[in-house]
Amino acid sequence: MTSVTAFVEGWDFVQTLGEGAYGEVKLAVNNETQEAVAVKIINLERMPQAEENVRKEVCVHKMLNHESIIKFYGFRKDDSIQYIFLEYASGGELFDRIEPDVGMPEVDASRYFKQLISGVEYLHSRGVTHRDLKPENLLLDDFDNLKISDFGLSTVFRYQGRERLLEKCCGTVPYVAPEVISRKPYHAEPADIWSCGIILVALLAGELPWDEPTYGCQEYCNWKDCKITLSPWNKIDTLALSLLRKVLVENASKRRTIEQIKKHQWYNKNFNKNKGRYPSSSPTDSPCGTGPFKRMCSGASMSPTSLEPDSDMSRICSSQPELPPVPLKSQSENLTSGGEDLGPVISFSQPLHPDHMLLSSQFQGTPGSSQTPMQKLVRRMTRFFVKTDKNDTLTEMDRICESLGYAYRRSSPGVTTVTLKDKRGMPLVFKACLMEMGENLLLDFRLSKGDGLEFKRQFMKVKNQMKKISSKVPPLFPLVPSQQPL
Ligand code: ADE
Repeated sequence: MTSVTAFVEGWDFVQTLGEGAYGEVKLAVNNETQEAVAVKIINLERMPQAEENVRKEVCVHKMLNHESIIKFYGFRKDDSIQYIFLEYASGGELFDRIEPDVGMPEVDASRYFKQLISGVEYLHSRGVTHRDLKPENLLLDDFDNLKISDFGLSTVFRYQGRERLLEKCCGTVPYVAPEVISRKPYHAEPADIWSCGIILVALLAGELPWDEPTYGCQEYCNWKDCKITLSPWNKIDTLALSLLRKVLVENASKRRTIEQIKKHQWYNKNFNKNKGRYPSSSPTDSPCGTGPFKRMCSGASMSPTSLEPDSDMSRICSSQPELPPVPLKSQSENLTSGGEDLGPVISFSQPLHPDHMLLSSQFQGTPGSSQTPMQKLVRRMTRFFVKTDKNDTLTEMDRICESLGYAYRRSSPGVTTVTLKDKRGMPLVFKACLMEMGENLLLDFRLSKGDGLEFKRQFMKVKNQMKKISSKVPPLFPLVPSQQPL
């Protein structure tokens, strides 16, 4: 793998955060300051068609500055490799907080949903539509704040006050609005709002309501026929359901707007903070998670079910006015502050000087957001320590893959790549990477392709079968920054 250190002195790639069709997202840490950034790496030799998409992604993302949106730090091109430098969200992906087929406490769902709506409202106010909103593209920071990420399919729908209708069918099928697959021009805003509704169902019920919003899909017909005694609707409280009834409306012009959603009773309901919430620092059997469904791992952002992006907005996009630079805030005091529960020996912080790794002409912004304290560990739930040695662990992994009927291969030393079809018949690919962590062995599972919830269901199955060899360790077990697959 190409190393950032080859051209950016002092920055190390520490860990793969996610991967997808475009390439990988890596965590890069400054070896002096422990500043941390996420770097999306796109290899144009492997994906020549990605160049235009990357250009557009950069062009849109650099316009954005909001607390619910992953910050764009800069872009760099090195021959055929392109790098996008992004705010690092150490809390992982939102889908990791969803218990498959259960969801999460309403109080948490409400908080995340409000942050999502606030981010989407901001995007729309800037004339930008995301077009691939789903839990895998919603990351969490140290403080469990939601951050919208991956602007690979985003586009500008309003420029200088003039809205254009979209025509391209893009997104991830279970999350897309009916009009997006209707092959007729559609408004951007209601389409994103529909996806927010599907995300709310996933948060509250731990499952997606349908494969696609078409009459060929029985679950969608049931929803249209108000058959709400069926799953997932029977798991959802009536007030939340009343909101969903108004958001998941087929006719986009009758669908609730963000302004209207914000006035809904469920949106404004004050949930009892202590009831049902996962304690934020209770011990779990996960190495670094702080709740039963806290962060585990990152996944593909352009999943196989992602539909094609359009490429017709390059002119508008490239002529967007530059935003004034965000004032650089002094963050040094935060770098030295430690919290009470900061067990780990390794700490990262967001970059004070992200321009260290970029040519100044390529640097488009500053971190701007509040500095996080120490404790920048990647919190993942899809991993566990094992008591067995390397060979025995891999043998056990093979045995379990066979017993679960997985197609699998050892893609590199210590890495098992599993390929299967999920219950919707969609391809699901994930990797189990055996890593040395000091004296311990960690088995880390990462989604490569497919649906995040389905990945989590499969992870649970494997974990269950590995009970005998998995070991419980303190939740804040220190992670060495140089962790590498074996
Ligand atoms: N996975 C993909 N993008 C990420 C980011 N910015 N921070 C953490 N994990 C990620």
